[in-house]
Amino acid sequence: MAGHGAYAAASSTQHAAAAAGVALIRPAIDDAAPAADGPPVVLADFGAATGNNSLAPLGAALAELRARHAPTRPVLVVHADIVGNDFTTLASVLETAPDRYDRGDPHVLPLMAARSLYDRVLPAGTLAFAWTASTLHWLRLPPGPVEGHFFAQLSDDAAARRRFAARSAEDWRAFLAARAVELAPGASVVAVDVLMGDDGVMGSEALFDRLAGALRGCRDAGVIDDGELERLVYPAWFRSLAELRAPFAPGFVAAGGERLELMSIEPIVEPDPFRGLLDRPAAYAAAQAGFLQGFLEPSFAAALNPARTPERRAEALEAIWARTRDAIAADPHGASPDYRLVALRVRRVS
Ligand SMILES: C[S@@+](CC[C@H](N)C(=O)[O-])C[C@H]1O[C@@H](n2cnc3c(N)ncnc32)[C@H](O)[C@@H]1O
Repeated sequence: MAGHGAYAAASSTQHAAAAAGVALIRPAIDDAAPAADGPPVVLADFGAATGNNSLAPLGAALAELRARHAPTRPVLVVHADIVGNDFTTLASVLETAPDRYDRGDPHVLPLMAARSLYDRVLPAGTLAFAWTASTLHWLRLPPGPVEGHFFAQLSDDAAARRRFAARSAEDWRAFLAARAVELAPGASVVAVDVLMGDDGVMGSEALFDRLAGALRGCRDAGVIDDGELERLVYPAWFRSLAELRAPFAPGFVAAGGERLELMSIEPIVEPDPFRGLLDRPAAYAAAQAGFLQGFLEPSFAAALNPARTPERRAEALEAIWARTRDAIAADPHGASPDYRLVALRVRRVS
């Protein structure tokens, strides 16, 4: 995600998405039923970014734990993200946010971990609850260039779509395998993520097409070359309900015999969080382009020719976002997304 606090400032879309999963937290904690005494209870937040959208869900988990299970037992809250995440802002949010979840509770300790959610982060059998929001569509590694669009699922590049889909299936299983080992028996992971609807719609098509047009415009104007255009990709795959259910048919059993069950999986539609700005085209375009920039800038910066000077790199990126803003401002209502999301809970049953 974009650094120096930029993600925190541009992530109201992800904030609204996270809210969609909060109802699944209470049953997850109740099913885990942590004892009142014992070693620290471990809660985890996988793909925390700057943490601003994690405070409410982790706070809800903590509130349920405190109210009904373990009023004073020590708690570790582990916020994990990849090396290169804006951990400085995360640390500051955990320490200074007015709504931080450990206010008034001296037995709650937040920690940060620089580890991929596709790998093991925590010791076996220790995790009482895990949360992950707007993360699982990110692929472990970019599966190569895409022709014709920055997002494989909107391109006509069938070979690229096959590569991305295969990587996505592998990654989803890797995530489940890692959590199967970490979760204590009875404990759950709650996930909220983008969804490819059964009607083949994600909701963000028109918005993403504005950015794709801006990228082609930059290529036509000589701001980026053909090679850069192909490498400027979103290393992501929006799974369908069938793809999410696939590892559970007939049941997910990890290498050590740990069994996971898909307890619930609910499609949700999230209205455009910036719809209140639709009648102010410039402000609306700035908000939506800022949202796209918030999660795409690091991938795009890495895809530009390494021979570019930092100034030419910055110039190219600014031209991309300026053209994106112009394209959105020209028809805000036409670009406005209604996101398809999914909220799900996976529980370790044995
Ligand atoms: C769109 S942000 C969502 C952040 C936050 N969960 C929220 O709800 O706003 C996606 C986050 O996933 C992280 N991420 C992507 N791939 C990851 C991986 N393999 N392991 C851990 N985190 C990852 C990114 O670094 C980024 O911080």
